[in-house]
Amino acid sequence: MNFKQNVVNALVAALGADLSAADITAAIEVPKTSDLGDYAFPTFALAKLYHKAPKAIAEDLVAKIDATPFQDVRPVGGYVNFFLDKVSYAHSVLTTIAADPAHYGDQTLGAGNVPIDMSSPNIAKPMSMGHLRSTVIGNALANILKKVGYSPIKINHLGDWGTQFGKLIVAYRLWGSEADVRRDPIHYLVKYYVQFHEEAEKDPSLDDQARAVFKQLEDGDQEVHALWQWFRDESLKEFTRIYDMLGVSFDSFNGEAFYNDKMDAVVQELEDKHLLKESQGAEIVDLSAYDLNPALIKKSDGATLYMTRDLAAAFYRHQQYDFVQSLYVVGGEQREHFDQLKAVIKEMGYDWADDIHHIPFGLITSGGKKLSTRKGNIILLERVLNDAIALAKKQIAEKHPDLANADEVAHQVGVGAVVFHDLKNERLDSFDFNLEEVVRFEGETGPYVQYTNARANSILSKTAVQPAAEVALTDASAWDVLKLLGDYPNVVARAAKAYEPSIIAKYALRLAKAFNKYYVNTKVLVDDAELPARLAMVKATSSVLTAALALLGVAAPAEM
Ligand code: ARG
Repeated sequence: MNFKQNVVNALVAALGADLSAADITAAIEVPKTSDLGDYAFPTFALAKLYHKAPKAIAEDLVAKIDATPFQDVRPVGGYVNFFLDKVSYAHSVLTTIAADPAHYGDQTLGAGNVPIDMSSPNIAKPMSMGHLRSTVIGNALANILKKVGYSPIKINHLGDWGTQFGKLIVAYRLWGSEADVRRDPIHYLVKYYVQFHEEAEKDPSLDDQARAVFKQLEDGDQEVHALWQWFRDESLKEFTRIYDMLGVSFDSFNGEAFYNDKMDAVVQELEDKHLLKESQGAEIVDLSAYDLNPALIKKSDGATLYMTRDLAAAFYRHQQYDFVQSLYVVGGEQREHFDQLKAVIKEMGYDWADDIHHIPFGLITSGGKKLSTRKGNIILLERVLNDAIALAKKQIAEKHPDLANADEVAHQVGVGAVVFHDLKNERLDSFDFNLEEVVRFEGETGPYVQYTNARANSILSKTAVQPAAEVALTDASAWDVLKLLGDYPNVVARAAKAYEPSIIAKYALRLAKAFNKYYVNTKVLVDDAELPARLAMVKATSSVLTAALALLGVAAPAEM
């Protein structure tokens, strides 16, 4: 079903040895609108070789090209424009999708294990909108990479270790109440943590105490460890509630604490390889050769750091999973950390450092302001999800008051809206979060795509006629929809190569828009010879919209 290949073949035959197939493939463009054709080949680059104007070259080429497989081949300025044969294209696309809708777009771009470090919230803090991005981008990438042949492993590298636990435990002992923590754990733990930072600004000795307590934790002090365990258990309970709402699962919850007994070996190897240097009492790896700040491995009091744990984790994953790529879906503000991580492993002499990829993303702001737990300016993810569900429920009640499973659908629409909104933004873009905008049923939203799918389903349920992809579809107004349906496998490939779920989300929006335009202008349910073929296209649209949403981790209710 490779229509672009037909175009390449026709050009190869006409150009002979003047341009390679690979160069032709790379040069071919897709015109902005389909009235200009489906593919266009620019002739500008050939002007020097032929000593002719691009326009004349385009005309010569058209005379030479065998146009049999196409509806038309035409010179347009310095381009040769190809018009595909719409009837055979429609037939090919619709029969392919109908044969195996769930696996349409499956392909092999690679194979092997790909651990994906994702979500990774910090214990004793609420999961914020910031962690939502890592969770949903990581989950979508896992789905997309699986579709193109890889075996993703979703790892939640919980922030359950580090000096912040020293701070928290000091704060709890000074101002905490066991009863309060039992009643509403995260709320109170955050309160103590915020209080710690306020007080420590006035009294810096608190920071020293916190460092000492963290050192006790690392050294295995029982009482300190019990508090830590309690905070961790309570936090994980809350996180699990949110993951259940999002429908995201993990293959591992090995967080930072898991690497506690795995750091010595790495530090020892660094030492054996003479890579550790002392700097103001701390142990560092000099990375000036990489134009990077030194990586901090051990503090002056011997306490390990975020970096030390990430080094141990990288080695553990390499040994455990023998990965072909190792991904870290973590905010752009940690770019330097991951550059350093790779550089240290490279310095140790391991080329697999090149298979480590930081997948950064932009910030979510609220009212233009950065979100930060420390300053208390947080949007709580659970609250956002619940508000979105309530808003979805209200809209469903207006549009479809007698919907049978309204609560379930409201959940799918509300949560789906938040997830879709996050993923339709290019990963690196920062964006402001506004709930009203996210849950709208019109515009570039998840509910709009879901609603379009439900509309396609309702068309199918209104007739007893069965869809038949084999019947010829000559309907010219269906062309934009058909072309998008045919493009889905390429879209999946592009999203996988760029680690960019937004490519899928934007595609779903384009397909939904094209389908709605078709539906408004065409009477689908007219009983004529092409009705089964039109129904096949409606069904294919629903299958592909559902599949694209599923890749993003968004449900597609049959009715809404
Ligand atoms: N817990 C960290 C945070 O919330 C993210 C951890 C990312 N993963 C990693 N292996 N460093 O900022």
